[in-house]
Amino acid sequence: MPGFTPPPYPYDRLKPLQEVASRLPGGLVDLSIGTPCDPPPAFTAAAMADPAAAQTYPPSLGTVAYRTAALGWLARRFGAQLDVSMVAACMGTKELVAGVPQWLRLRSPHLDTVLYPEISYPTYAMGATLAGCRAVAVPVDDQWRIRLDAIDEADAARALCLWVNTPGNPAGGLDDLGAAAAWGREHGVPVFSDECYAEFTWDGPARTILTHGTDGVVAVHSLSKRSNFAGARAGFYAGDAELVGYLSEVRKHAGFMVPGPVQAAGALAWDDDAHVVEQRARYAERLDALTAGLRASGLTVEPPAGAFYLWVAAPGGDAWALAGRLAERAGALVSPGEFYGPAGSGHVRIAAVQPLERIALAMERLTA
Ligand SMILES: Cc1ncc(COP(=O)(O)O)c(C=O)c1O
Repeated sequence: MPGFTPPPYPYDRLKPLQEVASRLPGGLVDLSIGTPCDPPPAFTAAAMADPAAAQTYPPSLGTVAYRTAALGWLARRFGAQLDVSMVAACMGTKELVAGVPQWLRLRSPHLDTVLYPEISYPTYAMGATLAGCRAVAVPVDDQWRIRLDAIDEADAARALCLWVNTPGNPAGGLDDLGAAAAWGREHGVPVFSDECYAEFTWDGPARTILTHGTDGVVAVHSLSKRSNFAGARAGFYAGDAELVGYLSEVRKHAGFMVPGPVQAAGALAWDDDAHVVEQRARYAERLDALTAGLRASGLTVEPPAGAFYLWVAAPGGDAWALAGRLAERAGALVSPGEFYGPAGSGHVRIAAVQPLERIALAMERLTA
C-alpha cells in the first residue's frame, strides 16, 4: 500500500494566476485566502508584548482568564451559559479541525468516518485523511445548507463526528443548527459546529449550536476573523463537557498550547464587542462593492447569508477560466471552487479581504 503524499496545497496552485495579476499597473489585488487585511484591536498590543506572559509554560486548557472571557462572549453574544469545565483553548482552529478525527479515533477505534459538507473548508476532509479515516461528503441544498436527510445510515453508524459550518465557507450558507444537534443525538454522533464566521452573519442574528443544548455537540470559535488575530493563533472549543474534557486531556499530552501572551491578549479581545461592530461594517461595505462591480461586469452574484466571501457561478461552469479572466483583466486573485470539494468546481470564491480602495481598483479594471 502506498504511503501518504500530501497533495499540492490549494493556494500554491494559484502561483501562475498570481504572476499574471501582478503584471497589471497598481499590482495584484489578492482576494484568494481569507486572511484579514485590518489590524487587531490596538488595546491588545501591550498584552501581546508582555515578556512575563512569555516566560512560563501556558496552560494547554487555556488560562482561567482566557476561558472566562470566551464564555463571557458566548453568554453576551448568544445567551449561551456554559460552565468553565466546558471550554478549552486551541491555537486558532485549523489545527483542531485537522486533529479531531485522530483524537476521536483513539477514543472510539471501531469508528472510521468523518462526515462534512460537500462544499466546505478543505480541512474537514484533510483531518479524516490525516487520521487514516474515511472522509464522507454530505450533499448541500440550493442554499448551500447541509442535507442531514441525505446522510447514509451506514455512514452514520461508522461516524466519529459530523462537521457543520455556519456561516459557511465558501458559500455563506446558514445551517439549521438545532436540526444538526438533534441529528447527532439521534444517531449517537458528536456534532462539531465550526462557527468562526458567526460575527459576520448577514441574514438574521448570529447563531451557535450551543443554544440547542450541549449534549453531544462542540462549537468551535476563532479570533482569527473576529478580531484579526489570524497571525496570533487563538480560538476555543466549547460544549459537551465529556468531549471537551477528553480532547483537552489528549491535547495536553501532545503539547498543544496557545502562547501565554496570545492568551492574555485574546482574553481582552473576547471581552470587547466594539471593535467587531467596526469590522462587520468593513466587510459589509467590501462585499457590497464587490457585488456591484462583478454584476456590472455581467456576472450573476448573490450576496451571502453570512461570512465574507462571494460564491460566484462561473459562466459555462469553467471556474479556472473565470479565475484567469479576473486575474488578467482585474488583477484579482480568486479561488476556483474545486478547492472546496468537487461539487464546488463550477464556482469561484472571492474573499472581501482587501481595503475598499483596492477592491475599487480591481472592479474599475474589470468594468473598464
Ligand atoms: C470554515 C473555517 N474554519 C476554520 C478556519 C481556520 O481558521 P483559524 O485556524 O485561523 O482559526 C477557517 C479559516 O479560513 C475557515 O474558513
